[in-house]
Amino acid sequence: MKSFLLLLIVQILQSPLIRAQMPGFVNLDCGGTSEHTDDIGLEWIPDNTFAFGERANTSLMYNNKKQYETVRYFPSDERKYCYTLNVTKRLRYLVRATFVYGNFDSSSVFPRFDISLGATYWETVGITNVVTPVMKEIVLLAPSDSLSVCLLNASSGVRFISTIELRQFNGSMYYTLFEAEYFMSLGARVNFGALSNASIRYPDDPFDRIWESDAAHRTNFLIDVAPGTTKISTTKPIIINYGEMPPLKVLQTAVVGNNGTLSYRMYLENFPGNAWAFAFLAEIENLGRNETRLFKALSPWDPPVNDVVVNVEASAGGKFRFYEPGFWNVSLPYITTILLQKTSNSTRGPILNACEFFKYLPINNGSLDATRMASLVSNFPQAKWAQEGGDPCLPTSWTWVQCSSGRQPQIISINLSGTNLSGNIPQQVTRLSGLIELHLDGSSLTGTIPDFSGLSSVQIIHLENNELLGSIPTSLASLPQLKELYVQNNNLSGVIPEGLLKKNIVFNYSGNPNLYVRSKEKSALKTIILSTVGALLLLLVLTILSFYMFKKKYKKQGKTVYFTTGKSNLFSEIDTESAQRFELAEIKDATVDFQKKIGKGGFGSVYYGKLYDGREIAVKVHDTESKQGVREFLNEVTLLSRIHHRNLVSFLGYSHQEDTNILVYEFMHEGTLAEHIRGHPEKKITSWVKRMEIAEDSAKGIEYLHKGCSPTIIHRDLKSSNILLDKDMNAKVSDFGLSKLMDDVSHVSSIKGTIGYLDPEYYAAEQFTEKSDVYSFGVILLELISGHDPISNENLEANSNYIVEWAKDHIENGNIYAIIDPAMEKTYNIQSVWKIAEIALMCVKLRRTERPSISEVLKEIQEAILIEQTGTNSQVESIDITLSNSLGSTPEFEKLNWARTNNAWQTDSFMQPGLR
Ligand SMILES: *[C@@H]1O[C@H](CO)[C@@H](O)[C@H](O)[C@H]1NC(C)=O
Ligand SMILES: *[C@@H]1O[C@H](CO)[C@@H](O)[C@H](O)[C@H]1NC(C)=O
Ligand SMILES: *[C@@H]1O[C@H](CO)[C@@H](O)[C@H](O)[C@H]1NC(C)=O
Ligand SMILES: *[C@@H]1O[C@H](CO)[C@@H](O)[C@H](O)[C@H]1NC(C)=O
Ligand SMILES: *[C@@H]1O[C@H](CO)[C@@H](O)[C@H](O)[C@H]1NC(C)=O
Ligand SMILES: *[C@@H]1O[C@H](CO)[C@@H](O)[C@H](O)[C@H]1NC(C)=O
Ligand SMILES: *[C@@H]1O[C@H](CO)[C@@H](O)[C@H](O)[C@H]1NC(C)=O
Repeated sequence: MKSFLLLLIVQILQSPLIRAQMPGFVNLDCGGTSEHTDDIGLEWIPDNTFAFGERANTSLMYNNKKQYETVRYFPSDERKYCYTLNVTKRLRYLVRATFVYGNFDSSSVFPRFDISLGATYWETVGITNVVTPVMKEIVLLAPSDSLSVCLLNASSGVRFISTIELRQFNGSMYYTLFEAEYFMSLGARVNFGALSNASIRYPDDPFDRIWESDAAHRTNFLIDVAPGTTKISTTKPIIINYGEMPPLKVLQTAVVGNNGTLSYRMYLENFPGNAWAFAFLAEIENLGRNETRLFKALSPWDPPVNDVVVNVEASAGGKFRFYEPGFWNVSLPYITTILLQKTSNSTRGPILNACEFFKYLPINNGSLDATRMASLVSNFPQAKWAQEGGDPCLPTSWTWVQCSSGRQPQIISINLSGTNLSGNIPQQVTRLSGLIELHLDGSSLTGTIPDFSGLSSVQIIHLENNELLGSIPTSLASLPQLKELYVQNNNLSGVIPEGLLKKNIVFNYSGNPNLYVRSKEKSALKTIILSTVGALLLLLVLTILSFYMFKKKYKKQGKTVYFTTGKSNLFSEIDTESAQRFELAEIKDATVDFQKKIGKGGFGSVYYGKLYDGREIAVKVHDTESKQGVREFLNEVTLLSRIHHRNLVSFLGYSHQEDTNILVYEFMHEGTLAEHIRGHPEKKITSWVKRMEIAEDSAKGIEYLHKGCSPTIIHRDLKSSNILLDKDMNAKVSDFGLSKLMDDVSHVSSIKGTIGYLDPEYYAAEQFTEKSDVYSFGVILLELISGHDPISNENLEANSNYIVEWAKDHIENGNIYAIIDPAMEKTYNIQSVWKIAEIALMCVKLRRTERPSISEVLKEIQEAILIEQTGTNSQVESIDITLSNSLGSTPEFEKLNWARTNNAWQTDSFMQPGLR
């Protein structure tokens, strides 16, 4: 039924009768004069709201693509020209800029220039013929509420642009762990076995990606095609589980290597670089019962580290189903060879339906003063100089500013002489801490001179020939670097600050009728008053200072002592002594003879107790039939006593008597997380932020087990009933360390994970790794979003009663609302729910190698919380820093940081098995 509906939807989308443009589409016809709808139903609007450049007609005539008949071109100056587009922050978009030269300037000089997206260099546009559209495309997660497409730095010809298109995605197909640091720039998107030369796009593709035909003769595009390569196609529908996958028409055609090999040499635009590279496959031939199609991809990676045999039909779960293997991150050259080879036991050759390659483009976060400058220019919506757009310094600076060099430049000079400014001197310029020169002369500025004391580097200030009022602020005299100050020909009044007159600077204040230099007497009097007051103040300050210093010293001593204890606790070498040994009688007293049972876990039963000193405890009693010997038990105790972290339930001590093994923990008042998601309605946590904070706490606890303990501890039984809450609702992980250590293979444990949370690769490998915990944690994240049991008895409406399958179906269909716990208050920001859902899906990937580390998961959770709190994710960097500091530098972190800074992940790639 479900697939039938899907087919219906797919067919409706294909129908040529439906021509209503998708929401989230923006089609800007640069240089156009009127709105029009083109042959495929896209509605174009002219770019005349952007007040720059000139219109021109190309020499080309298109029947149904009027947008290519005009261009906007820009003068050959140093300025960059930016189109600023509104977007929704944190949604994913496709941005496409198209350039059709058409000899619009009748010069036949092929233009060559750069384009940027905000401060991020995008690509160099090089025109090589008159008629062929040059398209540049980026897929990105919108980092702010606007995007600027800028043209700059022409090295030949005249800069121009034909169209700008914006498409909004609503699912997660292009989600990557790197999307906060990298845009994805399109290298190639090919539809193999295409029936014609025409590319496939909207409305076949609802997101209007352009799937180029492998038959079209683009020079140097696909070469070295292996002998025996044939095209196949079908008209049967293909089951595509979610919206953003390649359109049906693309998957219905393919090439197969009948002689056993498929190979293509492709020229990837904008490469070499690190790539997102995926193949899109579906078995569209009817293979006989005795036939198989098995193949290996021998390239694009080299050497073939992944000896994975691809079996499309099996991986996709049948014929005419969709399967998507690929790489999240692989280093590719400009000329990349795809090479698929059948295995010797396969009867058919390899198949390829489509592929997509993106290059990771490092995002430049822009200059330090970008926000201030954006606010400054927004005060002058009419002024031409305020329209330059984009970042003030990057990739090139605005014409009227100069910037320092470096990755995060600052404004060092502003030159707005004679630009007809009116009103007050904009406050923003007083906050540019790197400013050295300020030229605001020759306009109609009114109001008073503001406080420039924030400009500690300023050397030259030109305010002459305006209509400024009021007095000259004394603070100008205290600018340490000031060398030249020009205020002549204004309406300034009052006394000129003496400090300025004494200062060894160029100072022109003529032409201000009401401005005068103070007489000697007055100033002498003032000096006396000032110095008296000054002396008194000094005395006061000294008194206060010495008081504080005394106090500080005192305090510091106390603190030092405190730190020492704290540290010895945290980094204790072997702290067996810190585990208290309890007498059985003591425990019996505390629990009133094991009266109040509060739970039962893999370890045994748990009882509530209260010690003499009033501490409340949870007492875990080993099952009697436990095979564990004394020695193993004491080993565990030693281990447990070494683990201390605020997000791990504290281990207080143990008892081993009369063949009973007992572990004593701090008592957690609010019980398990499971009770708070699925228990009594009154206990339910309805706040999304609270749920995320619990996820954050738990992830920190797990991170400590994985990264902070040596040897590494794998929990092996993470689940929502093993996450406990204290009376302030802080989450702590419990039941850790009750199982074998990473390097202690001989120790056979009784705990083997819980169904619903268990890493599927465990079945094959029979071994737990950190990534097994990550899998379980992914399930917990899905529980937090949905409130569902990991395995539900009631049939979840989809085809699975397993939370992972069910949630995956909905998330990948872009329908996040279907899985959000209805008990949750509707105050959440949907973007933060998306983020958690996406990272949860990464955690529950079938293959361990594709799952993120718990540290990466933690970072995503923190970003999601930030989105909720501030609506931004701008502080991500500082979180990174605290994280790595608190952990020291574990190898994983070093790798991550290194990758971020150097954009080189050569070895860090892996194959994705698909099975979405
Ligand atoms: C472009 O062509 C249109 C009609 O063909 C004409 O009205 C318009 O003036 C031309 N624009 C320029 C800048 O030549
Ligand atoms: C972008 O949004 C702002 C304010 O929301 C609006 O003033 C402006 O016209 C919009 N720009 C475009 C190009 O739609
Ligand atoms: C401008 O382009 C030239 C050559 O195309 C290049 O050398 C230069 O670095 C570019 N400048 C900027 C600021 O991108
Ligand atoms: C490919 O297979 C065909 C027959 O299927 C054969 O005629 C041809 O020689 C083969 N070519 C190569 C290079 O193996
Ligand atoms: C598969 O079986 C069919 C008959 O069912 C036979 O014609 C064909 O040769 C067989 N193919 C192979 C590779 O064994
Ligand atoms: C075919 O060969 C590959 C290795 O080349 C092997 O992994 C696979 O299991 C084999 N399949 C069958 C059905 O024999
Ligand atoms: C976007 O998601 C909604 C469900 O949330 C779905 O109905 C719609 O079809 C999706 N859009 C596309 C183009 O897939």
